[in-house]
Amino acid sequence: MNIRTTVEADLDTLLALIADQSVNTVTLERFQQFLASGAYRHEWTWVAEEDGRITALAVWWGMEQFAHPLAIDGLYYAGTGDPVPVWAELIKHGTASFPAGHEGPEYHIFLPNGWRDRPDVVAALEPRLQAAAAAGLSETTERLRYEWTPADGLPARSTRLRFEPADDEAFVDVFRRVIEGSLDASTARAVARVGVDGAAREEVELYRSLPGDRSWWRLAYDEAGALIGFAVPSANNGGPVVGYLGVLAEHRGHRYSDDLLAEITHVLAEQGAERIGADTDLGNKPMAASFERLHYRNFAVRVVASHPLG
Ligand SMILES: CC(C)(COP(=O)(O)OP(=O)(O)OC[C@H]1O[C@@H](n2cnc3c(N)ncnc32)[C@H](O)[C@@H]1OP(=O)(O)O)[C@@H](O)C(=O)NCCC(=O)NCCS
Repeated sequence: MNIRTTVEADLDTLLALIADQSVNTVTLERFQQFLASGAYRHEWTWVAEEDGRITALAVWWGMEQFAHPLAIDGLYYAGTGDPVPVWAELIKHGTASFPAGHEGPEYHIFLPNGWRDRPDVVAALEPRLQAAAAAGLSETTERLRYEWTPADGLPARSTRLRFEPADDEAFVDVFRRVIEGSLDASTARAVARVGVDGAAREEVELYRSLPGDRSWWRLAYDEAGALIGFAVPSANNGGPVVGYLGVLAEHRGHRYSDDLLAEITHVLAEQGAERIGADTDLGNKPMAASFERLHYRNFAVRVVASHPLG
């Protein structure tokens, strides 16, 4: 078996494999579009050849503005044997190309709600997660995907918090204070990798690098002037997203997340958002409950396979 990244001349073979979508995020249209935009790249796309024929494919996705991919978007197999060991080799080659200390790699699989009752989905998912685990991405987290559209109605704006802009150091400080004790698995992984301060700085850097406007970020204070939390409305390459919100540990339990989420929704709606996307871990119950209360709709789930903590 020969493993290599792809070249332009492979395109027809890649498209023939991708035509069978299965649980992969890649579609024929997305593949060609992203190859042109730089969100997919030949040097991020790995194939296995047996007897000179391409039998397996792993497509990695990344942001156009970054030099490295972030996550696997699709695994395909056209051989006759067990795909798991071949996919595992492909994933290992892809992950080996990540620079040390870089976030990720991850494997994201988008699934319909209620996927556990869909034998076709489970059958497609299982070997892919086995291959990911064999290549070291053995921790899986399920994230709930939410969306809001203007038809869902604007939530009432907070009457008990006031919102103010602040500089990056102030945001590093609040990120630092909320990520301790976060119920979010990827936050916990970042803390294990680079510590609380490092994780806070990475978050600020990440949100600064996204297309969302830095001027939308707000700190939230109560009537007595106490700092309660913060709201980072944002946008990624796919459109407006909730971004991040956090309530300082000593102020939790008063549903301030609703006030922060309402503010974010207003800021993005004022910018003309026709859809706001958001994800939260299945285990982050208070956040999921807040999305539900503000009429965000859970439309799908995202399974994330990643390296285990530590
Ligand atoms: C998610 C978050 C904003 C919710 O805070 P909140 O508005 O204070 O939550 P609620 O008031 O709705 O809390 C509901 C219950 O969950 C508890 N709770 C809230 N956050 C908790 C946490 N991180 N860990 C444990 N329990 C928590 C509350 O104490 C409350 O318990 P009670 O019903 O016994 O009083 C807050 O947990 C947080 O800042 N987490 C870290 C950042 C994060 O995960 N952001 C979301 C990224 S999308």
